[in-house]
Amino acid sequence: MTSKKIETVLISAGRDRRYTQGAVNSVIQRASSLVFDSVADKARATAGRAERELFYGRRGTLTHFALQDAMAELEGGAGCYLFPCGAAAVANTILAFVSSGDHILMSGAVYEPTQDLCTKLLIKMGVETSWFDHCIGEQIAALIRPNTRVVFLESPASITMEVQDVSAIVAAVRSKAPDTVIILDNTWAAGVLFRPLEMGVDISIQAGTKYLIGHSDAMIGTAVANNRCWPELREKAYLMGQMVDADTAYLASRGLRTLAVRLRQHGDSSLAIANWLAEHPQVARVNHPALALCKGHDFWRRDFSGCSGLFSFILKQRLTPLQLAHFLNNFIHFRMAYSWGGYESLILANQPEEIAAIRPAGGVDFSGTLVRIHVGLEHVDDLIVDLAAGLARIAETAQ
Ligand SMILES: Cc1ncc(COP(=O)(O)O)c(C=O)c1O
Repeated sequence: MTSKKIETVLISAGRDRRYTQGAVNSVIQRASSLVFDSVADKARATAGRAERELFYGRRGTLTHFALQDAMAELEGGAGCYLFPCGAAAVANTILAFVSSGDHILMSGAVYEPTQDLCTKLLIKMGVETSWFDHCIGEQIAALIRPNTRVVFLESPASITMEVQDVSAIVAAVRSKAPDTVIILDNTWAAGVLFRPLEMGVDISIQAGTKYLIGHSDAMIGTAVANNRCWPELREKAYLMGQMVDADTAYLASRGLRTLAVRLRQHGDSSLAIANWLAEHPQVARVNHPALALCKGHDFWRRDFSGCSGLFSFILKQRLTPLQLAHFLNNFIHFRMAYSWGGYESLILANQPEEIAAIRPAGGVDFSGTLVRIHVGLEHVDDLIVDLAAGLARIAETAQ
């Protein structure tokens, strides 16, 4: 573990002189072929091809090595594999560790495409998945089977934002099945606000598309693994042809430099808005990890150093299609889009049955419409005015 503060790590990590060649940022080295000057050079590159020797474009260039080193240092791992998007990071990391006949134990509140990977693809390969209630702790031990190869977590959960008791889960899994690989989707915390490898998780995944890139203009996935899992992940992901272009890797490295300050602002503004919503007469519940009523709030307090910009809230009423349209169509700052983590504010809404349909371990405990927002870097006062007008539109629209 590094003794530097995380803000400093974000500035210095991956800026080895070999990668920057005298500039401040890493070079953008675009290459498929890397040329060897001699037979001895080729032999050296071949021997070191898995770890930072320039060998073949698919193994990475200086630009990729810079980002890989930075991410491994940030999340405290032995190495970081880069993928073309977060979904590829999830899929290929799981695929690296399972084979036919294996079982995956997965939280029932993870990102929907992660669930779909299991129910639509892995099942056809003879890998079975069972689901657990996202709020479970040490009781997870009872769900481990002799063939459980992977336990997959996401904290906070997608859309409903429950925070998991990761240390209890890790302890329970280790006591029952020490070799099981524990993987956690750490996208919300961006590797900064929560450090799962320090809690015994084997691999931390991020959709770097969100906060690492931070500007909604590129896609990348990262998976940082501990010593035990890194060689297997690295070699299997390489076999599956996983690769990201140097320009995108560069953008992710550049995003790291401002990540701490961006997250601080996303977090401050999201908390201010969450507190405002919690007092609003049309709002039944706010699912923000930093608010006491959010499920798993105590684990957030124990394990996280702050919050980012994404959270949800439940309205007291279920909106009619007309109300939903008037509410969502007329925001000034909150735009409708799926991917989040950029500088701009976003909004989406779901009816309870739509969320229940993606909760295989159980339904939902609410009956009003759920609204998910990503709080961007606009001034928080403007965002509150925008939301207040949106909530007023609901009241004004005939049912
Ligand atoms: C929690 C989480 N994991 C993974 C992903 C997938 O990332 P990408 O869109 O880069 O494939 C997303 C995207 O929204 C996400 O929210």
